[in-house]
Amino acid sequence: MFETLKELPGDKILALMQLYRDDPREAKIDLGVGVYKNADGVTPVMKAIKDAEKQLWEAEITKTYVGLIGDPAFSDAMIKLVLDGVVERKAVASAATPGGTGAVRQAFDFARMANRNVRVFVSTPTWPNHLSILKHMEIETVPYRYFDEETCGVDFDGMMADLAAAKPGDVVLLHGCCHNPTGANLNMAQWQEVVALLQKTGATPMIDIAYQGFGDGLDDDAAATRLVASSLPETIIAASCSKNFGIYRERTGLLMVVSQDTSRTAINQGTLAYLNRQNYSFPPDHGARLVTMVLNDDALRGDWVTELEETRLSMLTLRQQLADELQAKTGSNRFGFIAQHRGMFSRLGLSEADVLKIRESHAIYMVGDSRINIAGLNSKTVPVLADAIAQVVKS
Ligand code: LMR
Repeated sequence: MFETLKELPGDKILALMQLYRDDPREAKIDLGVGVYKNADGVTPVMKAIKDAEKQLWEAEITKTYVGLIGDPAFSDAMIKLVLDGVVERKAVASAATPGGTGAVRQAFDFARMANRNVRVFVSTPTWPNHLSILKHMEIETVPYRYFDEETCGVDFDGMMADLAAAKPGDVVLLHGCCHNPTGANLNMAQWQEVVALLQKTGATPMIDIAYQGFGDGLDDDAAATRLVASSLPETIIAASCSKNFGIYRERTGLLMVVSQDTSRTAINQGTLAYLNRQNYSFPPDHGARLVTMVLNDDALRGDWVTELEETRLSMLTLRQQLADELQAKTGSNRFGFIAQHRGMFSRLGLSEADVLKIRESHAIYMVGDSRINIAGLNSKTVPVLADAIAQVVKS
């Protein structure tokens, strides 16, 4: 029977990771997968996480199952972090998931249980795995314009025109902050307009928030999610702890479903528990427990906030340095947007051929759509990248 299986297209981001590893050149630079690296190229375990792990090792006396939706204390702490009380706690159903991807997958499943024929509106471009999961689930996707290739900012008029076609029973997938892969984001006035449009269309927003704390700060990065969740009758939110807690391999995420009509919460909650049971039963606990400890302990939280803020500021410094170097090397402000973008990524607006040229001649690895991971740079490699880009855009 297995002979019916066909070769599947590999994930481009993960394939790039492998290509980089296989490249024997010593002075290679990895700007591919979205993993934070410090100036030494290391993805550190954050101090607060390490300390929480020590405490947990001492205190934990059992590894028995927790519950289908994970530890309620994890939900409480994460709901507070993301929503900060803008909706009543009893309006939020939630379930721990294996990472942000698990939350996204369960969110689509949840939406399809509510509407067998759900369509999901997705930004062009979006995180490739959104599209891959939707395709795998045979859920119809409706693209909406998002990235303006000319300015490397948001094509807001195009976005609004396309989203106007959404209807009740549709889901509109939005990136809460730090848009992946472009780095281009809406301002709050634009978010207000999106909210008004969603209210008019009756479509349900789904927010993927995977980089809270990597853009403008923990609260600023959650502001759009809070606005949407407090303004619309129903909102789905998929949150990841992979990046902002640096616990990638622990697979820690939370799916939240907000219904302003709180009489719906019990059914939403039961549906989330059911979905966890069908897909993997109990979600991973280790990362979720560490996050809960960090968020609920003043000292650990203080250390975490400080380190996260250092991480964020170091990316902003690299952005500015790269924009300045490119201005000097190309004699134009074509790449000024890099300093305006937020989060881990920026899409540079280079052709696939240029991306390949940069990889072949300079051993610099970026995703084929010219997305770079800013955190893959340091002050010494920024000029190397700027040189490589200046060379291809001049030739
Ligand atoms: C990325 O976009 O590089 C990250 O979210 C990692 C992943 O799983 O693709």
